[in-house]
Amino acid sequence: MTKVKIVYASITGNDEDIAYVLTEKFEELGMDVDMSEVSQTDASDFEDADICVIASYTYDDGVVPDEALDFFDDMKDLDLTGKVYGACGSGDHFYEDFCRAVDEFADVFEEVGATKGSDPVYVELAPEQADIDDLDKFAENIVAKAKEMDE
Ligand SMILES: Cc1cc2nc3c(=O)[nH]c(=O)nc-3n(C[C@H](O)[C@H](O)[C@H](O)COP(=O)(O)O)c2cc1C
Repeated sequence: MTKVKIVYASITGNDEDIAYVLTEKFEELGMDVDMSEVSQTDASDFEDADICVIASYTYDDGVVPDEALDFFDDMKDLDLTGKVYGACGSGDHFYEDFCRAVDEFADVFEEVGATKGSDPVYVELAPEQADIDDLDKFAENIVAKAKEMDE
């Protein structure tokens, strides 16, 4: 069974909601899903998965959340060649660097050899129906890419 690891960073719950939406969708697609909060997760868990997903909010001046920094740094030491990744997250257009942490995570995935399964999904605050549709499509794209690589 294809393994999906979803790691989220969330203070007010928006990214946790995103992670739940994705968990449900990946399970519907027949995947074996494990979801956890970033500060409780070892970056090396990504090495045991086939599909690696991040859902992170962005903090002050467009940075990766404090509690995700160790995970973020540890990711740089991984080799995720052959894995498919997806990066998404919630932000607020009130801030100049909208959802920048999502792009920062995507950059690290690229650096360590993971293959992009979908364009990022950026959610304005809490996920609404249109965002849920985008997240469902995001999961579908990622699964399709993983299947393509398996052939
Ligand atoms: C002090 C502070 C700084 C923030 N900076 C940014 C930012 O630079 N870019 C952005 O897109 N969102 C920024 N946000 C908004 C959060 O990313 C947004 O509220 C997000 O939905 C929180 O996700 P969570 O509910 O998963 O914690 C900031 C929020 C706070 C409180």
